[in-house]
Order: sequence, then C-alpha cells, then structure tokens
Amino acid sequence: MKLAVVGGGSTYTPELIDGFARLRDTLPLTELVLVDPAAERLATVGGLARRIFAKQGHQGRITTTSDLDTAVDGADAVLLQLRVGGQAARAKDEAWPLQCGCVGQETTGAGGLAKALRTVPVVLDIAERIRRRNPDAWIIDFTNPVGIVTRALLQHGHRAVGLCNVAIHLQRKFAALLETDPAEVHLDHYGLNHLTWELGVRLGGPDGADVLPRLLAEHGPRIAGELHLPPPLLERLGVVPSYYLRYYYAHDETVAEMRTKPSRASEVAAMEARLLEMYEDPALDEKPALLAERGGAFYSEAAVALAASLLTDSAGTVQVVNTRNDGTLPFLPDDAVIEVPARVSRSGARPLPAPTLDPLYAGLVSHVTAYEQLALEAALHGGRDRVFRSLLAHPLVGQYDRAEALTDSLLAHNREHLAWL
Ligand code: G6P
Ligand code: MN
Repeated sequence: MKLAVVGGGSTYTPELIDGFARLRDTLPLTELVLVDPAAERLATVGGLARRIFAKQGHQGRITTTSDLDTAVDGADAVLLQLRVGGQAARAKDEAWPLQCGCVGQETTGAGGLAKALRTVPVVLDIAERIRRRNPDAWIIDFTNPVGIVTRALLQHGHRAVGLCNVAIHLQRKFAALLETDPAEVHLDHYGLNHLTWELGVRLGGPDGADVLPRLLAEHGPRIAGELHLPPPLLERLGVVPSYYLRYYYAHDETVAEMRTKPSRASEVAAMEARLLEMYEDPALDEKPALLAERGGAFYSEAAVALAASLLTDSAGTVQVVNTRNDGTLPFLPDDAVIEVPARVSRSGARPLPAPTLDPLYAGLVSHVTAYEQLALEAALHGGRDRVFRSLLAHPLVGQYDRAEALTDSLLAHNREHLAWL
C-alpha cells in the first residue's frame, strides 16, 4: 500500500510517521512519499521519518520529492496537509481582523476566509493532478479550512474525505475520564468542521448508553476548563461544544485577550524553529515531546483509521469525518459538507442517521454553512464583492462597515496569494 503526503515537510509529519509506525498492522504501508516544495525542510523531516520507521522496525520505504506527479503515481491515498503562505500568512490572518474588533484566528472568521481564498485554488489544482495520474486514489484532506476545502473537492467530483482531530481528541479525553478504552467511546458529534457539539457520549457503539450527563456531572468544570469555556455554560447546555465555539460564545472576551497576548502563530513559529533544530539531530529517532504542544494531537491515529477503512475490505467502521450532507442534517443543502459520525468503507463515507438538532445549534450551523458556500464562491471566482458578501454573511462579522474594512484588509494582506487580484 502506497500513501503520499502533500505538505510532507511539515513539522507535524513526525506525529503522522509515529502513528504509521505504531499502527502498521491496521495500515500496512509499503511505501510512503513525502512531497513538499521546501527541499531543505523536506530533507530534515524525511531523515527523522526514516529514523522513526527504522527504530520501530517498520519495513516500509520512505521517499521524499518535490515532484507531485511522481509522488502520487500508484498511490492508494494522498493526504493533504499543506499551508499556502506558511506560518507567515497565518500570522497575518490572526492580526488584521483584531484591528476591526473581530477574532483573529486560523480557521474562524475573517482570517479563516483569507485562508480559504488562498488554499482552495491550490488544493483543486493538486487534486486535478492527482486525478489525472491516478483517478482511483482517495484524497484525505487535513488542509484547513477543512469544511470549505472538502466542499470544493467534492463539488469538483474528487474522491475526498475531510478530517480533523477535534473529535478524536475529545474521544481520548472522555475515555481517560471514564477510565475506558477509546475504542469503546462513540461520540454523537454534530455540526461543521470547527463548529461542533458533542450531543452524546455512548459506550460500546453508536447505539450504546449515553454517559454524557454523568461525564458532565462528574467532570464538567474540568472539561470546560480544557476547552476554555465557562463551566456554567456547559452545565446549562448539557452538551460539549468544541473549543472553537469559544470564538462565538465568548467572542468579545476572546478578542480582548488576543489583543494582549502573543499570537498563536508566533508561538507556533517559535516551536517550529525549535522542532526543526531537533529534527536535524541524527540521534533523534522518535517524535519529540514538544510536538504535543501543537494542536494536532492524535491526528495520525485519525488518519490511520480513515485510510485503513477507505483502503481495506472492512465491514465499515464508524468515524467522525467531513463529508457531503445529502439530507443528514435536513435543514442544510445536500452539497454542504458536515462533520458527523459516518460509516467508512472502500466506497467512502456514509453518515449515520442524525438526531434532530436543537435550534440553538441548527441556527448557527445554517448560518455558517451559508457563509461557507459564499466563501467557496469567492475562492473559486474571486472578486472583491464576493469577499464582502462572505464576510457580511459571517455571524462574527455581519455589519456592513466591518465587512468593508475587513475586505480591504484581507485583500491588502493577500495580494501575493490571490491570482485574481
Ligand atoms: C487542531 C485543529 C487543526 C488546527 C490545529 C492548530 O488540531 O483541529 O485544524 O490546524 O489545531 O494547531 P496549532 O498548534 O497549529 O495552533
Ligand atoms: Mn481541525
């Protein structure tokens, strides 16, 4: 089995490699290709990747290349984890929205729109090249904003599934609190990428007993604390929002805090520099502990599970993925991309029947879905007016004067990345 990783020179890659090595019985890789235009970085990361495989006795071959066409040739699946413009572009996305009193964040709000506009054309171009070379390959998209990028891929007829680690992260956390095996914990995880709520936590499988009320009663404040949400809010809702809901439920508070703290982008950039230095040490043959301070914990496990289900004959395992709505959430268009539990097999992801969403959640999901549709139109066709419409539609922007100012800032800061400007 051959897998290609686009953006393989990412400092995150050792996390992925560690998962591939540990879980080789689930996903028997014979060849792994790391593709990246940044040759030096790729050599550094590739070197560590080979040492991790060697240490763990993985027989699979790891190669590196900057040539996408060679990389995807004969690949069964291609994982996308690229970042157009790198951390420098992220730093800007986190800064200019704050000047208008809006949250400055990698995927949420105006910064997330900028990322979508930069990313969608690049990902579609890569996907087209994958399809030309290899029409049967599955595309696993980790590239943010995952909801919009996956919607773009599916709209263009690609065999794609979007993936995020928020659900698997909560599953592991809850399993630890319940002192049980993560495989026993099934989440009723509903919404859009980075806009989800755990409506239930079931033991034993999708139809198991719901232990969420017990979890909240016994560990509510701790769970809320880790999500940076106020404990009384979780108590009142009776569900667990993802930590991205903080940007909605505590928007102004978060903006005030962001204005006084160093940005996440700057923290990540400093961590990346240290990580790369560590990776260059030929004695290092495992993922360093520092990597756990990044947000991507468990993403390798989610990737292995998804790739294994898409590529091997299994009865179909249930995993939380980003896929076409097709009536699952009846209040959304069929072509919206939702993040929900789905049965995944060689033929793709089929969402499980969903519960009826409380209007408290359905309203925000509808609102952000409309924004995502407009954002995708802006990313595909360009134009200042489409950018403005997306921002006006976003629940965290909404007012015309802010939308105007944010549009100007977005365009000014992304000139080199938007071909239509
Ligand atoms: C989580 C999210 C990712 C996001 C990451 C940011 O893993 O699911 O989509 O990119 O956090 O982590 P970072 O360490 O880059 O801030
Ligand atoms: Mn994510």
